[in-house]
Amino acid sequence: MGVQVLAILLVVLLGDSIGDAATNPYDFSAITGLMNDWQNKLPNWVGTDPCGDAWDGIGCTNSRITSITPSSMGLTGSLSGDIGQLSELQILDLSYNKGLTRSLPKQIGNLMKLTHLILVGCGFSGQIPDSIGSLQNLVHLSLNSNRFSGLIPPTIGNLSRLYWLDLADNHLSGSIPVSNGSNPGLDMLLHTKHFHFGQNQLSGTIPSQLFSSGMHLIRVIFDKNQLTGSIPSTLGLVQSLEVVCFDRNSLSGAVPGNLNNLTSVQELLLSNNRLTGPLPNLAGMSALNCLDLSNNSFDATDFPSWIPTLQSLTTLELERTQVRGVLPVILFSIFSLQSVVLKNNQLNGTLDIGTSHSNQLKLIDLQTNFIDDFKQSTGGSSIEVILIDNPVCRKTEAAGQSFCTIPQSNTSYSTPPNNCIPAVCNSNQTSSPNCKCSYPYTGTLAFGAPSFSGLENSTYFEILASSMMISFQSYQLPVDSVSLSDPCKDSSDYLELILAVFPSEGVSFNRIGIDSIGFVLSNQTYEPPKLFGPFYFIADQYTYFAAEVQVPTTSKKSSNIGVIVGALAGGFVLLSLLALVGVYAFRQKKRTEKATVQSNPFVNSDPNKSSGDIPQLKGARRFSLEELKKYTNNFSEANEIGSGGYGKVYRGTLPTGTLVAIKRAQQGSMQGGIEFKNEIELLSRVHHKNLVSLVGFCFEQGEQLLVYEFLPNGSLKESLSGKSGIRLDWARRLKVAIGAARGLAYLHELANPPIIHRDIKSTNILLDDHLNAKVADFGLSKPMGERERGHVTTQVKGTMGYLDPEYYMTQQLTKKSDVYSFGVLMLELLTARRPIEWGRYIVREVRVLMNKDKDLYNLQGILDPAIGMGTSLKGLERFVELAMRCVEESGADRPTMGEVVKEIENIMVFAGLNPFEGRISDHFGQLRGV
Ligand SMILES: *[C@@H]1O[C@H](CO)[C@@H](O)[C@H](O)[C@H]1NC(C)=O
Ligand SMILES: *[C@@H]1O[C@H](CO)[C@@H](O)[C@H](O)[C@H]1NC(C)=O
Ligand SMILES: *[C@@H]1O[C@H](CO)[C@@H](O)[C@H](O)[C@H]1NC(C)=O
Ligand SMILES: *[C@@H]1O[C@H](CO)[C@@H](O)[C@H](O)[C@H]1NC(C)=O
Ligand SMILES: *[C@@H]1O[C@H](CO)[C@@H](O)[C@H](O)[C@H]1NC(C)=O
Ligand SMILES: *[C@@H]1O[C@H](CO)[C@@H](O)[C@H](O)[C@H]1NC(C)=O
Repeated sequence: MGVQVLAILLVVLLGDSIGDAATNPYDFSAITGLMNDWQNKLPNWVGTDPCGDAWDGIGCTNSRITSITPSSMGLTGSLSGDIGQLSELQILDLSYNKGLTRSLPKQIGNLMKLTHLILVGCGFSGQIPDSIGSLQNLVHLSLNSNRFSGLIPPTIGNLSRLYWLDLADNHLSGSIPVSNGSNPGLDMLLHTKHFHFGQNQLSGTIPSQLFSSGMHLIRVIFDKNQLTGSIPSTLGLVQSLEVVCFDRNSLSGAVPGNLNNLTSVQELLLSNNRLTGPLPNLAGMSALNCLDLSNNSFDATDFPSWIPTLQSLTTLELERTQVRGVLPVILFSIFSLQSVVLKNNQLNGTLDIGTSHSNQLKLIDLQTNFIDDFKQSTGGSSIEVILIDNPVCRKTEAAGQSFCTIPQSNTSYSTPPNNCIPAVCNSNQTSSPNCKCSYPYTGTLAFGAPSFSGLENSTYFEILASSMMISFQSYQLPVDSVSLSDPCKDSSDYLELILAVFPSEGVSFNRIGIDSIGFVLSNQTYEPPKLFGPFYFIADQYTYFAAEVQVPTTSKKSSNIGVIVGALAGGFVLLSLLALVGVYAFRQKKRTEKATVQSNPFVNSDPNKSSGDIPQLKGARRFSLEELKKYTNNFSEANEIGSGGYGKVYRGTLPTGTLVAIKRAQQGSMQGGIEFKNEIELLSRVHHKNLVSLVGFCFEQGEQLLVYEFLPNGSLKESLSGKSGIRLDWARRLKVAIGAARGLAYLHELANPPIIHRDIKSTNILLDDHLNAKVADFGLSKPMGERERGHVTTQVKGTMGYLDPEYYMTQQLTKKSDVYSFGVLMLELLTARRPIEWGRYIVREVRVLMNKDKDLYNLQGILDPAIGMGTSLKGLERFVELAMRCVEESGADRPTMGEVVKEIENIMVFAGLNPFEGRISDHFGQLRGV
């Protein structure tokens, strides 16, 4: 029962994704041009307003198109030069549309704002245009698994912000470009962390100029090319390296001795080349997990004595490397060792694996050596030893011994179901790990250099599946579960697995779901546990899209604005969240300390303006980071009580013994410095039993932390979803409603100046021990000054589904916008459904179903069963009526929060409940009377 105090804060910066409803006409004509060349267009790409109508896979900022991300959509055709007209475009991800072919137009180079260009697993061919070097803001370039040919454009060297460069699995040829005089080259990419060039036809030598000590590369992957010459010793200067793969080329010469300097390298794959000289001494690579030097032409040597000193080694592959002599027993005592492959060498004497061998040891493959005896150890029976084609297996007594027979290959594996019996599914549905039938999103995950070797230990795949699930959940993707199956090694020794991602709602994903999951994988937003190393994912085409709400194309101002907002929510929430978090996080990382200081909301940038920027702090104190670390046991996992896109929430204990909830913003979370300061100021100004109180805050070393009172029963959302274990019957729901309404009414009517919350939703209503509701999260709240006359014109912010359509249309924020959100919350209280579930908008659903002539207004079908169906639901109809008044289209038709409070009090009295129970000194209640 995870008690989440501050619930998932999916604050979507709506203003950033929609702004004005009408799309910029130039962007519209550009996108029309693009789409003219595409077949299998998405069903809601109709009309003339991609931004206002929230076309799937198209994201906008203030009427400009800023992202195009229809991945895995089965698009076919080509990418036309019209792309170059989308001057505000930041993210282009067309991954997994195998039918997108032809070349990448040179106009791509006009996209000066582009940060992400991701075209994984499409069918693009031809040369990569030189103009790509103009994309000065590019951070992520993935063109892997296409059919690009020709040279690597040297202009890529101009991309000084590039972090991720993946051109693997294409038909690129020629040599690796480095700079000379006026021409740029890849050696200039000092900030790039990933060089993925494997599985191409690159030739020539690896220029020694390519590497230098100023680089920050983590992964250098050039496997399966046609590179010749020797490995340059400059590689040994790149101290940050963790993964180095030059296997399957035609490299020759000796391995440079200074590679031994690379103390962070975990995977070193140099197999299948023509390397000569002595086996390199790599004793300095103390982090090495996986070493593969197989199939080279090294000098004959005794088994190197430095190998057993590599205490992290899991996989040792020295096939056909002219190693001779007797294998030392001590090799098998490496604690983490899993597999040893020394086939085709000249090892002789007795194989003795000793008694203190690693308990993870799974495979010792010594085929084709000169070993004449095998000393079996006790407890070593789970190790597969292969001694075929050694003298020991030619002895008559060896006949039938398991180590002299070819091992059976394993039957296929799949991650097991979660304590349930797999369902029998019809047609093409599959039983998910939670035993529900649905249409999963599938594809192949491939890992270039996992640090483990055996595929028998399923623990790894379970770890991988759960880490993916955690990642999908943290981005709030509609994923029920993840399964992995059929692990195998492909011809290039990549570990391949079939991934299936199952939908959490209904039996299939909608396009936004697929898009978002595809992006998390294509952009490498998901990072697998380190032991898996680098990966790529190639999705299968998904053809089972759920029916989606049709957006009215005639006029977006048609009578039912709710539908549009509903569709928008489906359309933008996840992508814009991902995109914004991501882009912001990345920029954040790159900022210097100077920038951190500037974004500190408490640093007054204008020295002439003295105290204006210092927050008004009554009651809330400033904590040091040190103190907060102490109270949370150094932010230990055990104290983690919630997490989401914004960061994590920890339980802390003050020296007085008081429990607190500490919200720690992730670097680069959505809440900027201004919102942080806003929340501190507002919270320290308002005090009410139905508002969460702020104990203090900390802004130090670029970290933002807020310390709140601890609310043991978590958010309303958790209670409604049954997660917290508290059953909310009808009486309790009324109690929650009255509490939340009173908190909000206080903000609107008693706070001075009045405050509009702007983000009322079930995750922002927290429950204390006695199920008193408290309104939380004031990050977006706006105080209403004298001048504002009832409304503030502002960028639209809030959370999809709860957002007042009138505010969205007019950008004028009033208290009635909170009333609208509160009305949605009331419907959520009745149904326990999220406002937009599976493209269905709750307000519309209720409106359509509602029939005042019928019992319970005909809403039985959508009421939450936990409300206590069959028991007395006295007052429910009045509650529904109140909720529907709150969500009237026009703000003027909605009641004030004061009126809402009064009506809920009346409903409670009508239901036989005391609305003032436990409220001894609440003056607000006294003001109202009964
Ligand atoms: C690359 O940068 C050089 C200067 O470093 C500049 O002269 C050249 O125009 C740039 N090329 C492209 C394609 O942007
Ligand atoms: C790297 O190795 C060389 C010898 O191979 C040595 O002289 C040098 O000091 C080492 N550099 C670092 C930074 O350790
Ligand atoms: C193993 O082979 C080496 C020559 O490579 C030889 O000198 C040595 O005596 C052999 N040892 C055994 C135990 O056969
Ligand atoms: C499987 O791998 C895990 C993780 O490394 C390890 O803890 C476990 O002991 C292994 N299980 C077996 C049976 O080797
Ligand atoms: C099931 O899949 C096959 C091939 O993948 C396809 O031909 C068939 O139409 C699918 N059936 C349904 C009901 O979707
Ligand atoms: C893309 O993935 C990287 C990690 O590789 C992440 O830092 C970044 O935020 C992601 N970008 C977006 C737009 O999500």
